[in-house]
Amino acid sequence: MAPAAVKVIGVVGSGQMGSGIAQVAAVAGFDVWLHDSDPAALWRAEKAIGNSVRRLVSKGELSQLAGTDSLNRLRYTSTLADIRNSDVIIEAIVESEVVKKNLFLELDKIAKVSAILASNTSSISITRLASSTSRPTKVIGMHFMNPPPIMKLIEIVRGADTSDEVFMTIKTLSERLGKTVICSQDFPGFIVNRILMPMINEAFFALYTGVATKEDIDTGMKLGTNHPMGPLQLADFIGLDVCLSILKVLHEGLGDSKYIPCPLLVQYVDAGRLGRKQGIGVYNYQNKSQPVKP
Ligand code: NAI
Repeated sequence: MAPAAVKVIGVVGSGQMGSGIAQVAAVAGFDVWLHDSDPAALWRAEKAIGNSVRRLVSKGELSQLAGTDSLNRLRYTSTLADIRNSDVIIEAIVESEVVKKNLFLELDKIAKVSAILASNTSSISITRLASSTSRPTKVIGMHFMNPPPIMKLIEIVRGADTSDEVFMTIKTLSERLGKTVICSQDFPGFIVNRILMPMINEAFFALYTGVATKEDIDTGMKLGTNHPMGPLQLADFIGLDVCLSILKVLHEGLGDSKYIPCPLLVQYVDAGRLGRKQGIGVYNYQNKSQPVKP
């Protein structure tokens, strides 16, 4: 598919990432179908996108007309088949290879023959996701950063069979979305998470072994290395379940014990402390006056 032919974008998964990706695509002028299997997640996404676009309008970053047009270009559906006319489908569901492969199998059946299937996966092999389809040349990684409307980067990941034409179409599309592109080969965690997750894991080990309080670990990395957020705050922002899934992919895929997830991270996920989206992770976001003890 030639880059200019992309008019309709389907996004699957309307959580933190999918809702942001759908907003970015609609604001850039594409018609967007946003699908989630959970109607409550769709409803939350519609509310969040509406609030975010209205904020852009009130800050003068988007005209009133452009804001209204963007919201009108978005359609929400809990029926996967509704997105069948999309030229590019971007998957942003849970970070599980089994679940994603099942979805790619379904997408391959319903999508147009010419459609490109992209995954926003943080770490999972694009080659293996592509293997569950009959169109491996048209499967590619399109890894947005969190939150997609703010973060300027898209990491494009080429699977073993991704064609040059598909790569160029997705690169051009990413640029039309206002993003800077980097390209990674298909290795576990790609570029960004290969480097970021060991740092986050080490921060958990520092907390676990009593090196310092969570606040001092985060302040140390913020002021000591000029990071906008400390690693534990960032982990809460990403989602502790997502961090754990990525570390498991790094450990299994690269076979090095340095990627073994910290037991404290595992315990938090087991306890349902998934980060900001759950109201509690390393920090407690429900009642700021009562921080959770590590
Ligand atoms: P999330 O948990 O906020 O949202 C996932 C959504 O997918 C949920 O609404 C869920 O109902 C839906 N879903 C699950 N299975 C589905 C299926 N079979 N069909 C349709 N919908 C389904 O997760 P989040 O954080 O948005 O992550 C999504 C993907 O983006 C993951 O692959 C993650 O690794 C990746 N990612 C996450 C980043 C982050 O900072 N959270 C950053 C970049 C990528």
